[in-house]
Amino acid sequence: MSHYIINGGRRLEGTVRLHGAKNATLPILAAATICGDSVIANCPCLTDVEVALDILRHLGCDARREEDRIITTQTVGGSCVIPDRLMGAMRSSIVFLGAMISRFGCAQVTLPGGCELGSRPIDLHLSALRQMGAEIHEDCGALRCSAPQGLHGADITLSFPSVGATENILIAAAAAKGETILRGAAREPEIGDLIAFLKGCGGDISADIDGTICIRGVSQLHGTSHRVIPDRIAGGTYLCAGAITNGEVELEEAEAAHLLSTLAWLHNAGCRVNVNGRKVWLRGTPRLRELGMVKTAPYPGFPTDMQAILMAVAAVAQGTTVFVENIFDGRYRHIPELRKLGCDISVQGRVAVVNGGGPLHGAPLRCTDLRGGAAVVLAAMAAEGESQVEGIYHIDRGYECMEQHLAALGGDIIRTGR
Ligand code: UD1
Repeated sequence: MSHYIINGGRRLEGTVRLHGAKNATLPILAAATICGDSVIANCPCLTDVEVALDILRHLGCDARREEDRIITTQTVGGSCVIPDRLMGAMRSSIVFLGAMISRFGCAQVTLPGGCELGSRPIDLHLSALRQMGAEIHEDCGALRCSAPQGLHGADITLSFPSVGATENILIAAAAAKGETILRGAAREPEIGDLIAFLKGCGGDISADIDGTICIRGVSQLHGTSHRVIPDRIAGGTYLCAGAITNGEVELEEAEAAHLLSTLAWLHNAGCRVNVNGRKVWLRGTPRLRELGMVKTAPYPGFPTDMQAILMAVAAVAQGTTVFVENIFDGRYRHIPELRKLGCDISVQGRVAVVNGGGPLHGAPLRCTDLRGGAAVVLAAMAAEGESQVEGIYHIDRGYECMEQHLAALGGDIIRTGR
């Protein structure tokens, strides 16, 4: 297993060219299952994307990569079963469910894997697909779904704006019979990107800013060329790398509008930030300020995916910052790792209290999940001395060559082992 060796304490300075968003690429690839031949550009090279390509091929849609482009070509046939190995590899495998039922009239899958962030039910996905005419039997973690008459439109209200459920419904409804009204939908930028892809394929979709989406099913979705939006979480991570090391980082190919809540917190901490078109620039300060209370919320609120990463920054800031994790009930698994570096953090339920400002020192560390792993790496970059970080396969799920970007910024980080 490969791991990182980090010698921390160096100021990070330079430019990072952002890759495309993982969380936009995956649902777009799921949608490609039911669309004509397409070219999807700005697809990041990540293990989760490779899993999605494997799933697509199982479903009878050939998918090959040419640099940052993925070219999908429909073939005849394909299986309506996703193997357990692929279902277990990532959470997003469940977003193929609506597409499979739409394509085959049936689907057989097991419960999805992915980061362990507490309980991650899929009841909202299943209830919506049932409303659209799917019969779904659950048996010991196996799902058998069928819709012999095809899927039809429905009036669906989500009790929580689940990103994955919104994506599943959008894809399933795009080629269903009749109109679907989806109320209480997620409004993350990745949802907007999926809608843009489906509309490019001839989908008839209109979305209100209040989270109501109207999808009029079409009989056939043709192919399109589409460019995936930049990864706002990777962007936020590299800006935090600048902040935590009192450095200076400029993102290229960024979409600042998607980064506003993260930029606001970094500005509150005393960093200087500037936006110039597709470039976002940050300069740190030797005396970062505490952040008060940071609460995660659905977009446009502060993203749960940035919680661990901003917590690493708060750990080196002066004073006390309180985090409230409102999206997932088990998203503090990185905290014991941050404590090994000397961070003073206590947890009670959904609340974590960070007493910042203490010196951090290198330690043997472990990535507990994708974003928690990124937080641990950033804290190790700020800590004096050597850290060894295990479990970096989590990071490879969401960051393209993270160590190369951090090394190009002047960080002392190498990947060793196999
Ligand atoms: C997606 C993102 C993930 C991000 C999360 C929230 C991808 C691949 N992953 O995950 O990085 O952290 O959005 O922004 O895009 N819930 C239910 N029932 C359901 C579905 C969800 O109760 O059927 C709950 C979850 O347990 C969680 C909350 O809703 O508490 C949010 O989950 P959701 O928005 O669905 O996240 P994901 O789509 O899994």
